[in-house]
Amino acid sequence: MLAGISSTYLRRGLLSSAARSPRLLSSTRLAPSLSQTYAAGMKILAVLYKGGEAAKQESRLLGTVENQLGIRPWLESLGHEYIVTDDKEGSDSVFQKHIVDAEVLITTPFHPAYVTREIIEKAKNLKICITAGVGSDHVDLNAAVEKHIQVLEVSGSNVVSVAEHVIMSILLLVRNFVPAHEMIERGDWQVSDIARNAYDLEGKVVGTIGAGRIGYRVLQRLVPFNCKELLYYDYNALPEEAAKAVGVRRVDDLKDFVSQCDVVTVNCPLHEGTRGLVNADLLKHFKKGAWLVNTARGAICDKDAVAEALKSGQLSGYAGDVWNVQPAPKDHIWRTMKNPLGGGNGMVPHYSGTTLDAQQRYAAGTKSILENYLENKPQEPQNIIIGLSGYETKAYGVRK
Ligand code: NAI
Repeated sequence: MLAGISSTYLRRGLLSSAARSPRLLSSTRLAPSLSQTYAAGMKILAVLYKGGEAAKQESRLLGTVENQLGIRPWLESLGHEYIVTDDKEGSDSVFQKHIVDAEVLITTPFHPAYVTREIIEKAKNLKICITAGVGSDHVDLNAAVEKHIQVLEVSGSNVVSVAEHVIMSILLLVRNFVPAHEMIERGDWQVSDIARNAYDLEGKVVGTIGAGRIGYRVLQRLVPFNCKELLYYDYNALPEEAAKAVGVRRVDDLKDFVSQCDVVTVNCPLHEGTRGLVNADLLKHFKKGAWLVNTARGAICDKDAVAEALKSGQLSGYAGDVWNVQPAPKDHIWRTMKNPLGGGNGMVPHYSGTTLDAQQRYAAGTKSILENYLENKPQEPQNIIIGLSGYETKAYGVRK
């Protein structure tokens, strides 16, 4: 179906899986020549999530503190110091203790070490932040630019994983799945209580805020559902051929866009232009009873405004795996919020992009970025968020 789409589009990384695509080398060298420093051994700090018993039993949980992205033997054979922790909060944390002299920081969006401006000020030796996964908003990117700290991520590594989760979440909301399953577990059986708020996806208008790698894959996967219309809102237009291939229409105004959608899915990065984008004011412009799926970043949606819209029935459902703070506090309202019929909540912990398949890809991609850095080789352009001279991506907002 997509064979005819231009090479420009392939270069933008929308159709290829970066983890599998051939290397595209940048013409500029990004890593400074530091071979003497490397020979003396460098401090590499990784903040990963704790895997517990599961990680002991399942070695493919590579993104955990226990399994350490599978790179310890390699790094130690090169004489580097590799510190791995999940302890990331407060000035006494292992993260804050070691950030002062680490040269490389590896983090994940799943258990984000928040690399604030203050942390960057403390990190006197930091040269490169590598996000094991996709989404580097937990790093103060503007502060990184000022300090000439490179920020790279493993672009494309988990975009299929997330797109599949988005489709699942849309379906579970539209079809009222969660209350139906809970009813069965309780031992009850009252079909009408579920069916009164269950619909087909066929015939609905579905729109994505952000039509990049994930947003486009969501659109591709929606095609066979015969939706009434597919829409997108993004300041970067899709190439004509790509839009045509999925039959999507671009809407330029966000309020106009949401007012046309039965389902809105958020697939853009978190940056200055998207923080709190879905707020009380915008929610008023949604169709009454629309469904909202956000697997991008929690802080793109206003926590309390979403909970209120669900409670009032302005939204019929909200689903996703991302939270404004992670781990989410036990009393976070998104854990328990419900629509007036007692359903409409499809929230899960942040795991859509950390399936075992995705972990294998982002662990390999992290190693490859690190290898390029250590060997002073060019990085793959699609992985560079911040290069030595500033923003290299067009996805984190519009700047001069
Ligand atoms: P991408 O860079 O391929 O695409 C992002 C798209 O969003 C771009 O087309 C960009 O122009 C658009 N965009 C940026 N600001 C916008 C705005 N204000 N309004 C509308 N569109 C805007 O990124 P990709 O790979 O599709 O990932 C998107 C985001 O999804 C990541 O930045 C990350 O936050 C999130 N993500 C979540 C995961 C999870 O496990 N839940 C895993 C991977 C990514």
